[in-house]
Amino acid sequence: MRNILVTGGAGFIGSNFIRMVLSEQNDCFVVNLDKLTYAGNLENLHGYLEHKNHKFVKGDICDEKLIAKLIEEYKIDSIINFAAESHVDRSIEEPKVFIDTNVTGTLTLLEAARDNKLERFVQVSTDEVYGSLGTEGKFTEQTPLSPNSPYSASKAAADHLVGAFGHTWGLKYNITRCSNNYGPYQFPEKMIPLMINNAMNDKELPVYGDGLYVRDWLYVYDHCTAIWKVLTKAKPREIYNIGGCNEKTNLEVIGIILDRLKKPKSLIKHVTDRPGHDRRYAIDADKMMTELDWAPSVNFEQGIEKTIDWYLENDKWLSNVVSGEYGKYYDSMYSGR
Ligand code: NAD
Ligand code: DAU
Repeated sequence: MRNILVTGGAGFIGSNFIRMVLSEQNDCFVVNLDKLTYAGNLENLHGYLEHKNHKFVKGDICDEKLIAKLIEEYKIDSIINFAAESHVDRSIEEPKVFIDTNVTGTLTLLEAARDNKLERFVQVSTDEVYGSLGTEGKFTEQTPLSPNSPYSASKAAADHLVGAFGHTWGLKYNITRCSNNYGPYQFPEKMIPLMINNAMNDKELPVYGDGLYVRDWLYVYDHCTAIWKVLTKAKPREIYNIGGCNEKTNLEVIGIILDRLKKPKSLIKHVTDRPGHDRRYAIDADKMMTELDWAPSVNFEQGIEKTIDWYLENDKWLSNVVSGEYGKYYDSMYSGR
Protein backbone atom coordinates (compact mmCIF):
# COMPACT_ATOMS: atom_id res chain seq x y z
CA MET A 1 0.00 0.00 0.00
CA ARG A 2 1.36 3.46 -0.87
CA ASN A 3 0.45 6.37 1.38
CA ILE A 4 0.49 9.70 -0.39
CA LEU A 5 -0.06 13.22 0.88
CA VAL A 6 -1.98 15.22 -1.72
CA THR A 7 -2.13 18.94 -1.00
CA GLY A 8 -4.85 21.14 -2.50
CA GLY A 9 -7.07 18.12 -3.05
CA ALA A 10 -10.31 20.08 -2.67
CA GLY A 11 -9.44 22.32 -5.62
CA PHE A 12 -10.07 21.74 -9.30
CA ILE A 13 -7.16 19.52 -10.41
CA GLY A 14 -6.42 18.02 -6.98
CA SER A 15 -10.00 16.78 -6.57
CA ASN A 16 -10.03 15.31 -10.09
CA PHE A 17 -6.74 13.58 -9.25
CA ILE A 18 -8.07 12.12 -5.99
CA ARG A 19 -11.26 10.87 -7.65
CA MET A 20 -9.14 9.21 -10.34
CA VAL A 21 -6.79 7.55 -7.81
CA LEU A 22 -9.60 6.29 -5.56
CA SER A 23 -11.52 4.92 -8.57
CA GLU A 24 -8.61 3.29 -10.35
CA GLN A 25 -6.06 2.23 -7.68
CA ASN A 26 -6.80 -0.19 -4.84
CA ASP A 27 -3.44 0.07 -3.13
CA CYS A 28 -3.11 3.80 -2.53
CA PHE A 29 -4.19 5.68 0.59
CA VAL A 30 -4.62 9.44 0.09
CA VAL A 31 -4.28 12.04 2.84
CA ASN A 32 -5.78 15.21 1.40
CA LEU A 33 -4.52 18.42 3.05
CA ASP A 34 -6.40 21.53 1.97
CA LYS A 35 -6.91 24.93 3.57
CA LEU A 36 -10.32 25.34 1.90
CA THR A 37 -9.67 28.82 0.54
CA TYR A 38 -12.32 30.35 -1.75
CA ALA A 39 -11.11 27.81 -4.38
CA GLY A 40 -11.32 24.72 -2.16
CA ASN A 41 -14.69 23.00 -2.09
CA LEU A 42 -15.56 19.69 -0.48
CA GLU A 43 -18.45 19.30 -2.93
CA ASN A 44 -15.71 18.61 -5.50
CA LEU A 45 -15.19 15.29 -3.68
CA HIS A 46 -18.86 14.37 -3.50
CA GLY A 47 -19.15 10.58 -3.17
CA TYR A 48 -15.44 10.17 -2.31
CA LEU A 49 -15.04 12.05 0.99
CA GLU A 50 -15.84 8.95 3.06
CA HIS A 51 -13.92 6.53 0.83
CA LYS A 52 -11.94 4.02 2.92
CA ASN A 53 -8.68 5.08 1.23
CA HIS A 54 -9.20 8.82 1.74
CA LYS A 55 -8.66 11.09 4.73
CA PHE A 56 -9.46 14.78 4.42
CA VAL A 57 -7.58 17.20 6.72
CA LYS A 58 -8.31 20.91 6.77
CA GLY A 59 -5.01 22.77 7.12
CA ASP A 60 -2.31 24.93 5.64
CA ILE A 61 0.79 23.71 3.78
CA CYS A 62 2.72 26.39 5.72
CA ASP A 63 1.93 24.56 8.99
CA GLU A 64 5.17 22.72 9.68
CA LYS A 65 3.92 20.85 12.77
CA LEU A 66 0.78 19.59 11.08
CA ILE A 67 2.74 18.29 8.10
CA ALA A 68 5.25 16.48 10.33
CA LYS A 69 2.35 14.92 12.25
CA LEU A 70 0.56 13.75 9.09
CA ILE A 71 3.73 12.22 7.63
CA GLU A 72 4.33 10.27 10.81
CA GLU A 73 0.73 9.27 11.56
CA TYR A 74 -0.09 8.06 8.03
CA LYS A 75 3.40 6.75 7.12
CA ILE A 76 3.47 9.01 4.10
CA ASP A 77 5.91 7.93 1.37
CA SER A 78 5.30 10.69 -1.20
CA ILE A 79 3.89 14.20 -1.49
CA ILE A 80 2.08 15.60 -4.52
CA ASN A 81 1.84 19.36 -4.13
CA PHE A 82 -1.19 20.78 -5.94
CA ALA A 83 -1.95 23.41 -3.28
CA ALA A 84 -1.54 26.92 -4.63
CA GLU A 85 -3.08 30.25 -5.26
CA SER A 86 -3.72 29.63 -8.93
CA HIS A 87 -5.41 32.62 -10.59
CA VAL A 88 -3.28 35.12 -12.53
CA ASP A 89 -5.80 37.99 -12.24
CA ARG A 90 -5.93 37.65 -8.44
CA SER A 91 -2.11 37.65 -8.31
CA ILE A 92 -2.13 41.02 -10.04
CA GLU A 93 -4.60 42.37 -7.46
CA GLU A 94 -3.00 40.83 -4.34
CA PRO A 95 0.39 39.11 -4.84
CA LYS A 96 1.37 38.47 -1.21
CA VAL A 97 -0.74 35.38 -0.56
CA PHE A 98 0.81 33.86 -3.71
CA ILE A 99 4.24 34.12 -2.09
CA ASP A 100 2.92 32.75 1.24
CA THR A 101 1.33 29.63 -0.23
CA ASN A 102 3.21 28.99 -3.46
CA VAL A 103 6.71 29.75 -2.15
CA THR A 104 6.73 29.47 1.66
CA GLY A 105 4.19 26.63 1.60
CA THR A 106 6.25 24.67 -0.92
CA LEU A 107 9.41 25.29 1.14
CA THR A 108 7.65 23.94 4.25
CA LEU A 109 6.67 20.75 2.40
CA LEU A 110 10.17 20.37 0.96
CA GLU A 111 11.76 20.54 4.41
CA ALA A 112 9.38 17.87 5.67
CA ALA A 113 10.04 15.65 2.62
CA ARG A 114 13.81 16.02 3.10
CA ASP A 115 13.74 15.42 6.87
CA ASN A 116 11.58 12.31 6.51
CA LYS A 117 13.50 10.98 3.47
CA LEU A 118 10.32 10.58 1.44
CA GLU A 119 10.42 8.43 -1.67
CA ARG A 120 9.14 11.19 -3.95
CA PHE A 121 8.09 14.85 -3.99
CA VAL A 122 6.02 15.85 -7.02
CA GLN A 123 5.68 19.58 -7.56
CA VAL A 124 2.70 20.41 -9.77
CA SER A 125 3.98 23.43 -11.64
CA THR A 126 2.84 25.24 -14.76
CA ASP A 127 3.93 26.14 -18.28
CA GLU A 128 3.54 29.81 -17.25
CA VAL A 129 6.98 29.66 -15.59
CA TYR A 130 8.48 29.76 -19.12
CA GLY A 131 6.91 33.15 -19.92
CA SER A 132 5.32 33.93 -23.28
CA LEU A 133 5.94 32.64 -26.83
CA GLY A 134 5.78 34.46 -30.16
CA THR A 135 3.88 32.93 -33.06
CA GLU A 136 6.37 30.05 -33.48
CA GLY A 137 7.87 27.33 -31.26
CA LYS A 138 6.94 25.46 -28.09
CA PHE A 139 8.17 25.28 -24.52
CA THR A 140 10.51 22.35 -23.86
CA GLU A 141 11.93 21.32 -20.50
CA GLN A 142 15.10 23.21 -21.46
CA THR A 143 13.34 26.54 -22.05
CA PRO A 144 14.72 29.05 -19.52
CA LEU A 145 12.29 30.20 -16.84
CA SER A 146 11.03 33.72 -17.53
CA PRO A 147 7.81 34.24 -15.57
CA ASN A 148 5.77 37.39 -16.17
CA SER A 149 2.98 37.54 -13.54
CA PRO A 150 3.21 37.42 -9.75
CA TYR A 151 1.50 34.01 -9.99
CA SER A 152 4.02 32.55 -12.44
CA ALA A 153 6.93 34.18 -10.60
CA SER A 154 5.82 32.48 -7.37
CA LYS A 155 5.53 29.11 -9.17
CA ALA A 156 8.98 29.56 -10.74
CA ALA A 157 10.45 30.40 -7.33
CA ALA A 158 8.95 27.18 -5.98
CA ASP A 159 10.40 25.19 -8.91
CA HIS A 160 13.85 26.61 -8.15
CA LEU A 161 13.51 25.63 -4.49
CA VAL A 162 12.51 22.08 -5.45
CA GLY A 163 15.56 21.82 -7.71
CA ALA A 164 17.79 23.23 -4.96
CA PHE A 165 16.57 20.59 -2.48
CA GLY A 166 17.43 17.89 -5.03
CA HIS A 167 20.85 19.37 -5.68
CA THR A 168 21.75 20.10 -2.06
CA TRP A 169 20.16 17.23 -0.15
CA GLY A 170 19.47 14.65 -2.84
CA LEU A 171 15.68 15.00 -2.50
CA LYS A 172 13.92 12.70 -4.96
CA TYR A 173 11.63 15.11 -6.74
CA ASN A 174 9.84 15.60 -10.03
CA ILE A 175 8.42 18.82 -11.40
CA THR A 176 5.52 18.77 -13.86
CA ARG A 177 4.71 21.79 -16.03
CA CYS A 178 1.30 21.54 -17.58
CA SER A 179 -0.62 23.78 -19.95
CA ASN A 180 -4.13 25.16 -19.31
CA ASN A 181 -6.57 22.64 -17.85
CA TYR A 182 -10.33 22.53 -18.28
CA GLY A 183 -13.04 20.10 -17.19
CA PRO A 184 -15.46 19.33 -14.33
CA TYR A 185 -15.26 21.21 -11.01
CA GLN A 186 -13.20 24.18 -12.27
CA PHE A 187 -13.91 27.36 -10.33
CA PRO A 188 -15.62 29.89 -12.63
CA GLU A 189 -13.00 32.60 -12.25
CA LYS A 190 -11.04 30.76 -14.97
CA MET A 191 -11.87 31.49 -18.58
CA ILE A 192 -13.70 28.34 -19.74
CA PRO A 193 -16.12 27.86 -16.79
CA LEU A 194 -16.61 31.63 -16.53
CA MET A 195 -17.69 31.82 -20.17
CA ILE A 196 -19.89 28.70 -19.85
CA ASN A 197 -21.61 30.11 -16.76
CA ASN A 198 -22.14 33.54 -18.33
CA ALA A 199 -23.42 32.09 -21.61
CA MET A 200 -25.80 29.74 -19.76
CA ASN A 201 -27.22 32.83 -18.01
CA ASP A 202 -27.24 35.08 -21.13
CA LYS A 203 -24.63 37.37 -19.54
CA GLU A 204 -21.92 39.19 -21.49
CA LEU A 205 -18.69 37.25 -22.09
CA PRO A 206 -15.75 39.51 -21.07
CA VAL A 207 -12.95 38.87 -23.58
CA TYR A 208 -9.65 40.48 -22.61
CA GLY A 209 -8.17 42.66 -25.35
CA ASP A 210 -8.42 41.33 -28.92
CA GLY A 211 -9.17 37.74 -27.74
CA LEU A 212 -6.33 36.39 -29.93
CA TYR A 213 -4.24 35.14 -27.02
CA VAL A 214 -3.39 31.47 -27.42
CA ARG A 215 -3.55 28.76 -24.77
CA ASP A 216 -2.77 25.02 -25.17
CA TRP A 217 -5.75 23.26 -23.57
CA LEU A 218 -5.66 19.90 -21.77
CA TYR A 219 -8.63 18.00 -20.33
CA VAL A 220 -8.08 17.73 -16.57
CA TYR A 221 -8.34 13.92 -16.43
CA ASP A 222 -5.39 13.72 -18.84
CA HIS A 223 -3.30 15.96 -16.59
CA CYS A 224 -4.14 13.60 -13.71
CA THR A 225 -3.08 10.46 -15.60
CA ALA A 226 0.19 12.21 -16.47
CA ILE A 227 0.89 13.04 -12.82
CA TRP A 228 0.20 9.44 -11.80
CA LYS A 229 2.69 8.25 -14.44
CA VAL A 230 5.28 10.70 -13.10
CA LEU A 231 4.73 9.56 -9.51
CA THR A 232 4.96 5.88 -10.33
CA LYS A 233 7.33 5.67 -13.31
CA ALA A 234 9.60 8.72 -13.55
CA LYS A 235 13.24 8.77 -12.59
CA PRO A 236 13.93 11.17 -9.74
CA ARG A 237 15.01 14.76 -10.42
CA GLU A 238 13.41 14.92 -13.87
CA ILE A 239 11.09 17.65 -15.14
CA TYR A 240 8.16 16.87 -17.43
CA ASN A 241 6.10 19.18 -19.62
CA ILE A 242 2.47 18.07 -19.98
CA GLY A 243 0.19 19.23 -22.78
CA GLY A 244 -2.17 17.99 -25.45
CA CYS A 245 -1.27 19.98 -28.60
CA ASN A 246 -4.58 21.82 -28.52
CA GLU A 247 -3.65 25.42 -29.24
CA LYS A 248 -6.65 27.72 -29.57
CA THR A 249 -7.24 31.45 -29.41
CA ASN A 250 -9.61 32.55 -26.68
CA LEU A 251 -12.13 33.66 -29.32
CA GLU A 252 -12.02 30.18 -30.92
CA VAL A 253 -12.75 28.54 -27.55
CA ILE A 254 -15.58 30.98 -26.80
CA GLY A 255 -17.04 30.38 -30.29
CA ILE A 256 -17.20 26.63 -29.59
CA ILE A 257 -18.89 27.24 -26.20
CA LEU A 258 -21.50 29.58 -27.74
CA ASP A 259 -22.26 27.15 -30.59
CA ARG A 260 -22.70 24.20 -28.21
CA LEU A 261 -25.00 26.24 -25.93
CA LYS A 262 -26.83 27.70 -28.96
CA LYS A 263 -26.15 31.26 -27.78
CA PRO A 264 -25.42 34.29 -30.02
CA LYS A 265 -21.95 35.77 -30.68
CA SER A 266 -23.44 39.13 -29.69
CA LEU A 267 -22.85 38.10 -26.03
CA ILE A 268 -19.09 38.65 -26.59
CA LYS A 269 -17.80 41.91 -25.12
CA HIS A 270 -14.16 42.97 -25.55
CA VAL A 271 -12.95 44.49 -22.26
CA THR A 272 -9.76 46.08 -20.94
CA ASP A 273 -6.86 43.67 -21.19
CA ARG A 274 -5.08 41.88 -18.31
CA PRO A 275 -1.87 43.83 -17.48
CA GLY A 276 1.21 41.99 -18.80
CA HIS A 277 -0.98 39.39 -20.54
CA ASP A 278 1.13 36.50 -21.96
CA ARG A 279 0.38 36.18 -25.68
CA ARG A 280 0.89 32.50 -26.36
CA TYR A 281 1.67 29.24 -24.55
CA ALA A 282 2.38 25.92 -26.32
CA ILE A 283 3.85 22.78 -24.83
CA ASP A 284 6.21 20.21 -26.28
CA ALA A 285 5.18 17.09 -24.30
CA ASP A 286 7.42 14.71 -26.22
CA LYS A 287 9.41 13.63 -23.14
CA MET A 288 6.21 12.66 -21.27
CA MET A 289 4.98 10.67 -24.27
CA THR A 290 8.19 8.85 -25.16
CA GLU A 291 9.73 8.26 -21.71
CA LEU A 292 6.57 7.63 -19.73
CA ASP A 293 4.29 6.36 -22.51
CA TRP A 294 1.61 8.94 -21.71
CA ALA A 295 -0.96 10.30 -24.14
CA PRO A 296 -4.11 12.39 -23.68
CA SER A 297 -7.35 10.40 -23.88
CA VAL A 298 -9.43 13.10 -25.60
CA ASN A 299 -8.90 15.92 -28.10
CA PHE A 300 -10.19 19.43 -27.44
CA GLU A 301 -13.50 18.98 -29.27
CA GLN A 302 -14.34 15.86 -27.21
CA GLY A 303 -13.13 17.37 -23.94
CA ILE A 304 -14.98 20.66 -24.27
CA GLU A 305 -18.21 18.82 -25.15
CA LYS A 306 -17.89 16.69 -22.00
CA THR A 307 -17.09 19.82 -19.96
CA ILE A 308 -20.04 21.88 -21.19
CA ASP A 309 -22.38 18.93 -20.63
CA TRP A 310 -20.99 18.52 -17.10
CA TYR A 311 -21.73 22.17 -16.24
CA LEU A 312 -25.24 21.84 -17.71
CA GLU A 313 -25.90 18.72 -15.64
CA ASN A 314 -24.33 20.17 -12.47
CA ASP A 315 -26.09 23.51 -12.28
CA LYS A 316 -26.57 22.97 -8.52
CA TRP A 317 -22.76 22.76 -7.98
CA LEU A 318 -22.36 25.89 -10.10
CA SER A 319 -25.09 27.86 -8.36
CA ASN A 320 -23.65 26.94 -4.92
CA VAL A 321 -20.21 28.15 -6.04
CA VAL A 322 -21.38 31.44 -7.55
CA SER A 323 -23.76 32.21 -4.68
CA GLY A 324 -20.93 32.93 -2.19
CA GLU A 325 -18.07 35.44 -2.41
CA TYR A 326 -18.00 34.98 -6.18
CA GLY A 327 -20.52 37.76 -6.86
CA LYS A 328 -18.34 40.32 -5.07
CA TYR A 329 -15.23 39.07 -6.86
CA TYR A 330 -16.97 39.25 -10.24
CA ASP A 331 -18.19 42.80 -9.67
CA SER A 332 -14.80 44.01 -8.49
CA MET A 333 -13.00 42.50 -11.50
CA TYR A 334 -15.49 43.16 -14.27
CA SER A 335 -17.89 46.03 -13.52
CA GLY A 336 -16.85 49.09 -15.48
CA ARG A 337 -14.06 47.18 -17.21
P1 NAD B 1 -7.37 25.66 -7.52
O1 NAD B 1 -7.21 27.11 -7.22
O2 NAD B 1 -8.63 25.16 -8.11
O3 NAD B 1 -7.11 24.80 -6.19
C1 NAD B 1 -6.11 25.11 -5.27
C2 NAD B 1 -6.41 24.36 -3.98
O4 NAD B 1 -5.33 24.63 -3.06
C3 NAD B 1 -7.70 24.80 -3.29
O5 NAD B 1 -8.44 23.67 -2.88
C4 NAD B 1 -7.22 25.60 -2.10
O6 NAD B 1 -8.12 25.55 -0.99
C5 NAD B 1 -5.90 24.92 -1.79
N1 NAD B 1 -4.97 25.80 -1.06
C6 NAD B 1 -4.64 27.08 -1.35
N2 NAD B 1 -3.77 27.56 -0.45
C7 NAD B 1 -3.50 26.53 0.41
C8 NAD B 1 -2.65 26.39 1.54
N3 NAD B 1 -1.89 27.41 1.97
N4 NAD B 1 -2.63 25.20 2.19
C9 NAD B 1 -3.39 24.17 1.77
N5 NAD B 1 -4.23 24.25 0.72
C10 NAD B 1 -4.27 25.42 0.04
O7 NAD B 1 -6.11 25.31 -8.44
P2 NAD B 1 -6.00 24.25 -9.63
O8 NAD B 1 -6.41 24.91 -10.90
O9 NAD B 1 -6.63 22.99 -9.21
O10 NAD B 1 -4.41 24.08 -9.69
C11 NAD B 1 -3.76 23.10 -8.90
C12 NAD B 1 -2.28 23.17 -9.15
O11 NAD B 1 -2.00 22.96 -10.53
C13 NAD B 1 -1.67 24.54 -8.80
O12 NAD B 1 -0.42 24.31 -8.20
C14 NAD B 1 -1.50 25.22 -10.15
O13 NAD B 1 -0.41 26.11 -10.13
C15 NAD B 1 -1.22 24.03 -11.06
N6 NAD B 1 -1.63 24.16 -12.47
C16 NAD B 1 -2.90 24.58 -12.78
C17 NAD B 1 -3.28 24.63 -14.13
C18 NAD B 1 -4.68 25.05 -14.52
O14 NAD B 1 -4.93 25.23 -15.72
N7 NAD B 1 -5.63 25.21 -13.61
C19 NAD B 1 -2.37 24.27 -15.13
C20 NAD B 1 -1.08 23.87 -14.76
C21 NAD B 1 -0.73 23.81 -13.42
O1 DAU C 1 -1.05 27.70 -18.40
C1 DAU C 1 -1.38 27.12 -17.17
C2 DAU C 1 -2.11 28.14 -16.32
O2 DAU C 1 -3.39 28.29 -16.89
C3 DAU C 1 -2.22 27.73 -14.86
O3 DAU C 1 -0.94 27.69 -14.30
C4 DAU C 1 -3.09 28.72 -14.08
O4 DAU C 1 -3.28 28.26 -12.75
C5 DAU C 1 -4.44 28.81 -14.76
O5 DAU C 1 -5.23 29.79 -14.12
C6 DAU C 1 -4.26 29.17 -16.25
O6 DAU C 1 -3.80 30.54 -16.40
P1 DAU C 1 -4.40 31.51 -17.54
O7 DAU C 1 -4.16 32.90 -17.13
O8 DAU C 1 -3.96 31.09 -18.90
O9 DAU C 1 -5.96 31.10 -17.42
P2 DAU C 1 -7.32 31.95 -17.40
O10 DAU C 1 -8.43 30.97 -17.43
O11 DAU C 1 -7.32 32.98 -16.32
O12 DAU C 1 -7.25 32.71 -18.79
C7 DAU C 1 -7.19 32.01 -20.03
C8 DAU C 1 -7.16 33.05 -21.15
O13 DAU C 1 -8.43 33.72 -21.19
C9 DAU C 1 -6.13 34.15 -20.94
O14 DAU C 1 -5.61 34.54 -22.20
C10 DAU C 1 -6.94 35.29 -20.34
C11 DAU C 1 -8.30 35.13 -21.00
N1 DAU C 1 -9.47 35.59 -20.22
C12 DAU C 1 -9.60 35.12 -18.94
C13 DAU C 1 -10.68 35.51 -18.15
C14 DAU C 1 -10.80 35.01 -16.74
C15 DAU C 1 -10.41 36.42 -20.77
O15 DAU C 1 -10.28 36.83 -21.95
N2 DAU C 1 -11.48 36.82 -20.01
C16 DAU C 1 -11.64 36.40 -18.72
O16 DAU C 1 -12.64 36.82 -18.06
